[in-house]
Amino acid sequence: MLKGTELAAVVSEQSGRTAALIKAKSEYVAEGISSSVPIFIKQAKGAVIEDIDGNRYLDFYSGIGVTTAGHCPDSVVDAIRNQAEALLHSCFMVSMYEPYVKLAQKLAEITPGDMPKKAMFVNSGAEAVENAVKIARAYTGRQGIISFESGFHGRTLLTMSLTSKVKPYKHGFGPYAPEIYKVPFPNVYRGQLHVSEDEACRAYLDYFERFFVAEADPSHIAAIILEPVQGEGGFNIPPKGYWKGLREICDKHGILLIADEVQTGFCRTGKMFAVEHFDVVPDLMTLAKSIASGMPLSAVVGKKEIMDSAGAGRIGGTYGGNPLACEAALATIRFMEENDLASKALAIGEKIMARLKKLQAEFPQIGDTRGLGAMIGIELVKDPAAKEPDKASAAAVIAECVKQGLLIIGAGIYGNVIRFLPPLVLTDGQLKQAMDIFETSVRKVLKK
Ligand SMILES: Cc1ncc(COP(=O)(O)O)c(C=O)c1O
Repeated sequence: MLKGTELAAVVSEQSGRTAALIKAKSEYVAEGISSSVPIFIKQAKGAVIEDIDGNRYLDFYSGIGVTTAGHCPDSVVDAIRNQAEALLHSCFMVSMYEPYVKLAQKLAEITPGDMPKKAMFVNSGAEAVENAVKIARAYTGRQGIISFESGFHGRTLLTMSLTSKVKPYKHGFGPYAPEIYKVPFPNVYRGQLHVSEDEACRAYLDYFERFFVAEADPSHIAAIILEPVQGEGGFNIPPKGYWKGLREICDKHGILLIADEVQTGFCRTGKMFAVEHFDVVPDLMTLAKSIASGMPLSAVVGKKEIMDSAGAGRIGGTYGGNPLACEAALATIRFMEENDLASKALAIGEKIMARLKKLQAEFPQIGDTRGLGAMIGIELVKDPAAKEPDKASAAAVIAECVKQGLLIIGAGIYGNVIRFLPPLVLTDGQLKQAMDIFETSVRKVLKK
């Protein structure tokens, strides 16, 4: 384990090999595939990442919310290795294999709601969202989909259409898919409504009454899709009653409620699924990222009769639910349950939040500190009253953290949010060391 100041000491200058690889990357890899940290990783274990020059870093981004069970957990690696020796691929849509069915059953058991459920598998978060929309349209016979300002659902044409951040995501890639309607997200910190959280919740829900008169006939809407806590959009948590209110609106109008748990799912927020915090059972859920510790896998899980509405051959794909990925997911979920990672997320979240609140008291430029479990964001602003986003300072703090050996990333439609997504196997010592680095970096950047 890393101790004391060892971490900062081992982060040195880049070697000739890293510099050569960066040069080759810029020559052969498409410009759009940008990398925010100029290192090449050799290996990683738990919460520690090592680059090809032997520099070691603490991980506070978990492969953007993927390695929630830590890097390369032994049991997951064993499961992948065993499966690799037996079968790499057959395409489940032709000849079947057991791990696919076992994982579908497991997800049906652990997702919210006592009703009979079914699952289907694809490869990425965006693909899961695409399929959830297809299934919702097949079930309802309707076309309209409602998504939210500052929501993120992926980079394919349909999911970009559902997403709400112009640059760099949407700019120049239109025209977008039709029949997508955006509504304002109840952003408690940045909301235009200067009222209490409860009043804001009510006002944002009441907005739908106007929307259904002015924008779209509710009988034309197939589904409302949203993230329980917005991820890329800035770690925005809706007010407590908002999900329940949405559930009522959906039930009233025969609209399906889709929880996009691609980033929030699998213990990250202190429960297996974040929507459980809001006491709501969605009709469909999209899952990916943490599900398989890094193997490409995503799922749509939902009510049996809804999932069955897209009949034989209408959904699927060559690689979806690959046997290695399914075995990795089964082992990851087992690891999460056996090690109670949901409780660990709460404990880690509390410790990070306590440190951040103290820092916020010292630096008013930390405009907001918010989180659910171990999904935490801080928003940097030029001054607390005007709340003008400070993207440059967020970038500077992140760069300073990297220099000192902590990998952490940004978020938010204004790029001024710093997000905390540590692997949930982080030790107390690693947590302390990471927060020490973070505080030092904030002091260096903000105290001018
Ligand atoms: C909530 C949410 N949905 C969908 C996606 C898209 O997932 P992928 O990048 O695997 O396509 C993401 C990715 O960050 C996400 O956070």
